[in-house]
This record gives sequence, structure tokens and C-alpha cells, in this order.
Amino acid sequence: MGRIGLSEVTVAELDEARAIVDIASVQNRYNLLDREHEAVLDACEEAGIAFLPWRPVAAGTGGARAEIAEVAEAAGATATQVTLAWLLARSRVVLPIPGTARIEHLEENVRAAGVSLTQAQYDRLDRLTAVQH
Ligand SMILES: NC(=O)c1ccc[n+]([C@@H]2O[C@H](COP(=O)([O-])OP(=O)(O)OC[C@H]3O[C@@H](n4cnc5c(N)ncnc54)[C@H](OP(=O)(O)O)[C@@H]3O)[C@@H](O)[C@H]2O)c1
Repeated sequence: MGRIGLSEVTVAELDEARAIVDIASVQNRYNLLDREHEAVLDACEEAGIAFLPWRPVAAGTGGARAEIAEVAEAAGATATQVTLAWLLARSRVVLPIPGTARIEHLEENVRAAGVSLTQAQYDRLDRLTAVQH
């Protein structure tokens, strides 16, 4: 039997759909520096629904980019890897789906699953959205 996933929904739309049918997953744009759908992620976590952030790689600019690079160096990883590691640490329901046309990026992204951030590194990245906006 198939399962139903939603894309680019608000919390209200998710609730409306869940009143009709079981929802397996939600796919919204979300990354370290783009937290518009924070409340949707929280709702998915509470309901045990998989949250698949599209465009999960957050390159950043200016101060945010420099801070991500510093955390990456301290973690022994690339900037992309720490932004993906932050996502994986953000919630147990998060499953990032980075798109890439390059094998080396694919391998780098898969290896992000093995990158562990300290709590201080996680918190530093977590605060960056305020720097960006
Ligand atoms: N639900 C929706 O509305 C929605 C919208 C858009 C996409 N999606 C889904 O999201 C998934 C990914 O979408 P997408 O292909 O558009 O990709 P994306 O994750 O939105 O962005 C891909 C970009 O990130 C870059 N990138 C990936 N890994 C990188 C790395 N390690 N270092 C530097 N840059 C890196 C890619 O460049 P390179 O190619 O050079 O690596 C590419 O420019 C797909 O399954 C797609 O269907 C869903």
C-alpha cells in the first residue's frame, strides 16, 4: 500500500490533511539559515512524521559563512557537512535530501551522517539564522 507525503505545507494544512488521512512525510524547504518552516518541523516531530528538508545545504554569506567555516574546521569536516550534520542533529524525524550533479558532492554529503557536532558547535550553528536575517 502506498503512503502519502505532503510538500510545502503550513502547520494548518498539515493538520487539515491529518484529520483525513495518515501522513507519512512532509517535504518543505529548510536549512540552517532558512528556518521559515520551523513550526512545521516541530509539528512533524511531535507527530512522528518524517520531515524531508529540500535545499538542505546552507552555504551562507558574510558572517554566517565565516562562522560555518570555523565550526567545520573545528569539527574536521567541510562547511556543507556541518550544515547537514546540524540538520540531522536538529530532530530525529529529519531526513535531508540534498540534490547534486557531482559524485564528489554526493560522497561528501553522505559522509556528513558520520560527523558529530559538540553541543557548543550545534548551538553556535543554531544561532546563525539570526546573523543571516
Ligand atoms: N518539494 C519541493 O517543493 C521541492 C523543491 C525543490 C527540490 N525538491 C527536491 O529536493 C531534492 C533536491 O533538490 P535539488 O536537486 O533542487 O537540490 P537542492 O538540494 O535544492 O540544491 C542543490 C544545490 O546544492 C549544491 N550542493 C549539493 N551538495 C553540495 C556540496 N557538497 N557542496 C556544494 N554544493 C552542493 C548543488 O550543486 P552541485 O550540483 O554542484 O553539487 C546544487 O546547486 C530533490 O529530490 C527535489 O525533488 C523538492
